[in-house]
Amino acid sequence: MSKQIIVVAGGTGDLGGRIIKALLNKGAEVRVLVRSTSDIKKISHLEQIGADVKAIDMTSEQEISSACSGATCVVSALAGLHDVVIDAQKVLLNGAILAGVPRFIPSDYSLDFTKFKDGENRNLDLRRAFHQYLDSTSISATTIFNGAFMDMLTNEIPMIIFKKKLVLYWGNADHKMGFTTLDDTALFTANVALDESTPRYLRIAGDQISPREIREVMNKLSGQKFRLLRTGGLGLLSIIIKIARKISPGKTDLYPTWQGMQYMRNMMDERATLKTIDNNRYADMKWTMVKDLLSNHKLN
Ligand SMILES: NC(=O)c1ccc[n+]([C@@H]2O[C@H](COP(=O)([O-])OP(=O)(O)OC[C@H]3O[C@@H](n4cnc5c(N)ncnc54)[C@H](OP(=O)(O)O)[C@@H]3O)[C@@H](O)[C@H]2O)c1
Repeated sequence: MSKQIIVVAGGTGDLGGRIIKALLNKGAEVRVLVRSTSDIKKISHLEQIGADVKAIDMTSEQEISSACSGATCVVSALAGLHDVVIDAQKVLLNGAILAGVPRFIPSDYSLDFTKFKDGENRNLDLRRAFHQYLDSTSISATTIFNGAFMDMLTNEIPMIIFKKKLVLYWGNADHKMGFTTLDDTALFTANVALDESTPRYLRIAGDQISPREIREVMNKLSGQKFRLLRTGGLGLLSIIIKIARKISPGKTDLYPTWQGMQYMRNMMDERATLKTIDNNRYADMKWTMVKDLLSNHKLN
């Protein structure tokens, strides 16, 4: 049987690169769409591991269409604001449709934004807006909801303060949040790309864990006592987000401080709780839990 051809856009990015590796490990033929401005070192690394890199004009549906010929799925791992999530992804999607590609995976990889309303989270609003267009087309799309990237618990997410032995949280200490590592998200995405019959939405979480349980994990791993510290309720967090957004709007920044707070606000919201989970869909998934991630991390 001939290899499935999977096209990846955003392959020079963090998640995209991992999706490409996972696809190649699974024996797929991987075409990566890059821009003339994309990092040359990243491109040669992708070529070295066996990807077929196509440097094209990503604003041209025609060029995208030619590069997608014969592919069974286009995977988007683009990251950005309106000009990327909506404008560039529309061109990518149109190019895929023009080439007759049957399936598309949009660059979502987030909380389940179908549960939230416009105005609650700028980056999720952009995804919902793109979906209005996506769902009006004939292509078969599958979105992957993975909560937050678990890897960020050791750096970007200010929750575990290793030096001070604190676990900070907003709202309810027993609310479980969904975390999935970048590698697990990438492998799951590769499985979805190669699976001909996937539903519109798939939901995964390497771990669903509360701030109190994270404290217990830290106590066990470190042999020391971590303290839970409630920084405030979700109402207070919403007010702080509004103020932070006024002081420093960061309209062109993908992740201004208030956006990170907004994501945490949504993670701690009851509506983010997963009612169904698709973790068992593929036999090769061995999910990394928060205790696994943190046991490999320097604890102070
Ligand atoms: N759930 C979470 O916790 C979480 C956290 C972070 C990210 N994410 C999501 O994961 C996905 C991937 O993010 P990432 O962090 O891996 O991204 P990243 O490392 O910043 O990479 C972004 C990719 O998008 C490409 N790109 C950006 N603008 C483009 C354009 N106009 N045309 C063509 N390509 C363009 C970049 O190409 P060049 O190399 O050419 O610039 C790069 O390959 C995004 O949907 C992001 O929002 C989720």
